[in-house]
This record gives sequence, structure tokens and C-alpha cells, in this order.
Amino acid sequence: MTQEQWTAVDEYITDLFVPPDPVLDATLQSSAIAGLPPHNVSPNQGKLLLLLAQIHGARTILEIGTLGGYSTIWLGRALPADGCLITLEANPKHAEVARANIVRAGLDKIVDIRCGRALDTLPQIAAEGRSFDLIFIDADKPSNPDYLAWALKLSRRGSLIIADNVVRNGAVIDSTSDDPNVQGIRRFNERLAAEKRVSTTAIQTVGSKGYDGFAIAFITADQ
Ligand code: SAH
Ligand code: DHB
Ligand code: MG
Repeated sequence: MTQEQWTAVDEYITDLFVPPDPVLDATLQSSAIAGLPPHNVSPNQGKLLLLLAQIHGARTILEIGTLGGYSTIWLGRALPADGCLITLEANPKHAEVARANIVRAGLDKIVDIRCGRALDTLPQIAAEGRSFDLIFIDADKPSNPDYLAWALKLSRRGSLIIADNVVRNGAVIDSTSDDPNVQGIRRFNERLAAEKRVSTTAIQTVGSKGYDGFAIAFITADQ
């Protein structure tokens, strides 16, 4: 199988199930014009995030890694009018682009962008006494083990933790890799596997964004 086939099938699926959406299209366009890297989830992965949040009945969501707000908008659309999504972004330029996109999406009442390195903003969020129904981890991969520790602190029985980019073109199985991204993901996966109060799996994904994967973890017992 080739990238060309994965992309063609992704387009087939997207044409069927993810109709063009002016707000999401404008989000990707404004992100590209502003020079943001194309690291957003794909349209059908965004739809998967929306479906998971809806199936879960999420009312509160934490996202680590906003970029231009593309995944934020997908997740925000799953929330009721009195829901809340906090999204963490280190790069002020990314946060500014995301803010405009979130306003255009009509989600600015629900979405709170916190600008700063996540390891600096997470303690503040914990100090506010918050917990979340769903946590989406999609920022700098070397920090994933730390993000998992925070996600466990900020969740409760019944919460869902989702992480992007856990396969990395298959590089994740190379235990000797000197890539800090791979090592971050490996430690994240190992810690999830060792966590007795969490039921986890990971799925490989192929499509327009290449070969990667999502980890999905359900908190089954009180912390
Ligand atoms: N979730 C987005 C993509 C996020 S890309 C989507 O699917 O649309 C990863 C983002 O994490 C980038 O915008 C990057 O600036 C941000 N990031 C990197 N290191 C970070 C850190 N330490 N804290 C918070 N955000 C960080
Ligand atoms: C990268 C980061 C992501 O979150 C992603 O989905 C794709 C690529 C990156 O840093 O290369
Ligand atoms: Mg990602």
C-alpha cells in the first residue's frame, strides 16, 4: 500500500462522511496563510474526535496542543452550550490564529485558550480544582509522560484520555531510537499500560496524514 492509496481512500471517506464545512475550511486556510505547520488532525480524524466526545457525552474537555484550533473546533462542537473546553498552546502566534478561528466558529464562549507551555499552565488548571470528561494530548511528544501524569490528576472515573501520534510511521516499536519524540511516546504508552485504573488500547491510522495512531484510555476506577 502506498501513501497515494491511503490519501485516495481518505478522500473517499471524507467525501462521504465529512461534508465541506466553511468554518473548518477557513481554519485550515488561515492557519496555512499564517505559516503554521500542517500538524492538525485530518478531517476524518477530527470527525472521530467529535464522535468520541459525543458518544461519551463530554461536557468538559482539556486539549494540550491547540495549533490553529482545528481539532479544538471539532471537539468544541461536541459540547453543550454550557460546556467548557480549555486548550493549551505554547506559541503565542498559534494561539492568536486559533483565537480568530474559534471566534469564527462561534465557540469563543465555550473555548478558553491558555497561552504558555503546558507544563506551566497545567498546575494552574489543577489549582482551579477542575477535572475533565475528555483530555486530548497532542503537543510536544517528549513531554507526553508528564502530560499523562497531569491528565490522570485532572480526570476521574469515567474520563477519557486520547493521544495523537502514538505510532509515528512505525518508529514507536524501535526501543533503541534516539528520537526524543519516539522515546516520549514509548514511555507514555508504557506508563498507560502499567496503570491499573485505566483501560487502554491504541489504533494505527493511515490516511492523508501518513501512518500514525491514536491511543484511547478510559479511566475505570477512582484515582
Ligand atoms: N491539536 C492540533 C495540532 C497540535 S500541533 C490539531 O489537531 O489541530 C502541536 C501544538 O503543540 C503546536 O501548536 C505547538 O506549538 C504546541 N506545543 C508544543 N510544545 C508545547 C508545550 N510545551 N506546551 C503547549 N503547547 C505546545
Ligand atoms: C507533528 C505533530 C503532530 O501533533 C502531528 O499530528 C503531526 C506532526 C510534528 O511535530 O511533526
Ligand atoms: Mg498530532
